[in-house]
Amino acid sequence: MEKDIQEILLTEEQIKTRIAELGKELTADYAGKDPIIVGVLKGVVVFYADMIREIKTHCEMDFMWISSYAGTNSTGKMEVKRDIASDIKGRHVLILEDIYDTGNSLDFTYRHLMSREPASLKICTLLDKPERRQVEFTPDYVGIEVPDEFVVGYGLDYNEKYRELPYVGVLKEEIYK
Ligand code: IMP
Ligand code: MG
Repeated sequence: MEKDIQEILLTEEQIKTRIAELGKELTADYAGKDPIIVGVLKGVVVFYADMIREIKTHCEMDFMWISSYAGTNSTGKMEVKRDIASDIKGRHVLILEDIYDTGNSLDFTYRHLMSREPASLKICTLLDKPERRQVEFTPDYVGIEVPDEFVVGYGLDYNEKYRELPYVGVLKEEIYK
């Protein structure tokens, strides 16, 4: 598995430090608001687990599973495979995502949840890969910017593999070319 990784882009320590910083911001911004934190499955799972433990105010968890993605190319077509379970009308909602790449999934998720009239709807993405953008908007909280490389680990996969790596690494091109 490690032999498929060309380079470690973000170490466990770097990710941890950035999540602690985001946690301070989110704690301050959501104190007393009882937010619902919606994780976009499946890539977000590892980030979600670490992130919520740094938000030191009461919050509820929910998850949404959307899909479009086969291999390394986003088709831009999305479907809801599993919807959130909570009624978010009038609630403060924060979307957690693993990576903001073309923007199609975040755009889809945002519209989907916005139609249910939350009191507020914000986005927090761990990684931001600005170079392949198709839908441009500004996420409210961004963890770390990454270059235009296919990255895996810390929840992110290539064909369902590599999610369990504790760091974010660049996958060798020969694996997916
Ligand atoms: P979008 O292109 O912004 O819609 O990103 C859609 C989804 O593609 C993300 O939530 C990730 O799950 C996945 N994705 C995008 N870029 C990468 C990558 O470099 N590695 C692994 N998954 C990725
Ligand atoms: Mg994702």
